[in-house]
Amino acid sequence: MALWGGRFSEDTAKNVTEFSESVSYDKRLYKFDVLGSKAHSAMLASCGIIPQETANLITKELDVIEKRIDDGDFEFKAELEDIHMHIESALIEALGDEGARVHTARSRNDQVALDVRMYVKSEITELIAGIKDFQKALLSQCERNGDAILPGFTHLQHAQPVLFAHHLLAYVEMLGRDVERLESCYTRVDYLPLGSGALAGSTLPIDREFVREKLGFSKITRNSMDTVADRDYMIELLNALATFGIHVSRLSEDVILWCSQEFNFVELSDAFCTGSSLMPQKKNPDIAEISRGKSARIIGSLMTMLTLCKGLPLTYNRDLQEDKEPLFDAIDTAKKILSVFPQMMLEMEVNRENMLEAASDPALMATDVAEKLVELNVPFRNAHHRVGAFVKWCKDNNKELNEVSLKEMQITIPEANEEFLTLFSPVSSVEKRQCFGGTAPEQVKEQIEFWNNFLTD
Ligand code: ARG
Repeated sequence: MALWGGRFSEDTAKNVTEFSESVSYDKRLYKFDVLGSKAHSAMLASCGIIPQETANLITKELDVIEKRIDDGDFEFKAELEDIHMHIESALIEALGDEGARVHTARSRNDQVALDVRMYVKSEITELIAGIKDFQKALLSQCERNGDAILPGFTHLQHAQPVLFAHHLLAYVEMLGRDVERLESCYTRVDYLPLGSGALAGSTLPIDREFVREKLGFSKITRNSMDTVADRDYMIELLNALATFGIHVSRLSEDVILWCSQEFNFVELSDAFCTGSSLMPQKKNPDIAEISRGKSARIIGSLMTMLTLCKGLPLTYNRDLQEDKEPLFDAIDTAKKILSVFPQMMLEMEVNRENMLEAASDPALMATDVAEKLVELNVPFRNAHHRVGAFVKWCKDNNKELNEVSLKEMQITIPEANEEFLTLFSPVSSVEKRQCFGGTAPEQVKEQIEFWNNFLTD
C-alpha cells in the first residue's frame, strides 16, 4: 500500500503510477533528504515529540540508506513516487513503527521545499566558483595579450580601435554581474522552509529554530502557505542562469566570428574544435557553437518555470513537481558550459597582426578628428559635420583618410593643422581614451588589477 493509502480501497492504475512518479529525476536530492530527516528527527526528540532512542535509530538507519543509494544498492520504484517516500519507506521497512515516526509534523510539501533549497544553495556555491574561474581565464588572456588592438564594432561595422583586453573585460564585467545575481538569489534561498507542514504549520510543539541551526540556514520562512507554494527562488536562479547563458552566447558569437576566415583574429586550440566528416580542411568552433545553442535550453527552462507558476492557486499543487527537471537541466547545462568554455578561452591564440591591421583603417579614427576640433573650440555637432564631409571627400577622391595633404584636409576642415595628420594611428587613438572605463592601456590595466584583486579576496 502507498504511504498515503489509508483512505484508498483500490490500487493506483499502472499507467498513472508511471505518469505521476518523480523519483526518476528527484532521486538526485537524496543526500539532502537524508540530512533534512536527520535534523527533523533530532528536533522531534529534543521537543519530546518522539523518544530520543527513536531519533538515534532513525539517524543510524538514514546513514545506512544513504550508503546503499551511494553504492547503487537501492531499488527505486515508480510506486513510491518520489525520493521522499522511498527514504521514508526504507526507514519503515528497517525500523517498523520507529521509522514510522519520522514524518511527524512534516509534509512532503515542506520536505521537497527543504531538499530543493539545500540543493540550490549548494549548486549556487559551485556555479559562483565556476563563473569566477571563467573570469580568471579571461583575465589571464587579457594579461597575455594586454596590448593587442582590434576594431571595436557597433552594428557589426568597424567603429573605433579598442584593446583586445578591453573587449574581454566587458565579458568579465557581465560575468561579475551574473555572480552578483546568484549571490543575491542565494540570500532568498537561504530560508528554512521545514516546519510549514502541508500548508498551515503543525499542531505539535516543533522547534524550527533548532532545525534552522542544524541545517545551516540563515533565516526561517515566515508564512507556511507561502513556503510550500513559493518557487520564486527557482525563477530567480533560472533568470540568473539564462542571463549567464546569454552572455556566453554573445561571447561565443564573438569567438565564432573572430576565428572565421573573414576575421582571422584568433585561433582556437585543436583540443576545442572538431572537423568535418566530409571537408578535410575544416576546423570548426563547435564548443562555442554548442554553448551558444545551450543558452537556448536555459532560457527555455526559465520560460517553463514562469509558465508553471502563473495562475497557480495557493498553496501546493502537484504541477509544482514539474519544477525540478527544468531546474536541474538549467543548472547542469550551465555547469557543462563552465566545464569547457573557460579552458577554451584560456588556450585561444590571438593573431595580433591581423587584429591591428583591421584596426588600422584610418576611418576608425574619424571620431578622434572630430574631438580634436572640439579641443579647438568647434562645437561638436559642427565638428561631426566637417569630419563627415572630409570622409566623403576622401571617398569621392579615392583616398584613405591618412593619404591626404593638409591642404586637402582643409577643404572640408578649415581649422585642421599639422597635428591632424597624425591622428590616424590606432595605437595613439587607444592611448588617448583615458577617461575612467575607457580603452586606454592605463585604464584597462587598472580594471585588470581591480578584477584580479576582487577575485583573489
Ligand atoms: N514529488 C512532489 C514534488 O516534487 C513532492 C510533494 C508531493 N506532495 C503531495 N502532496 N503530493 O513536488
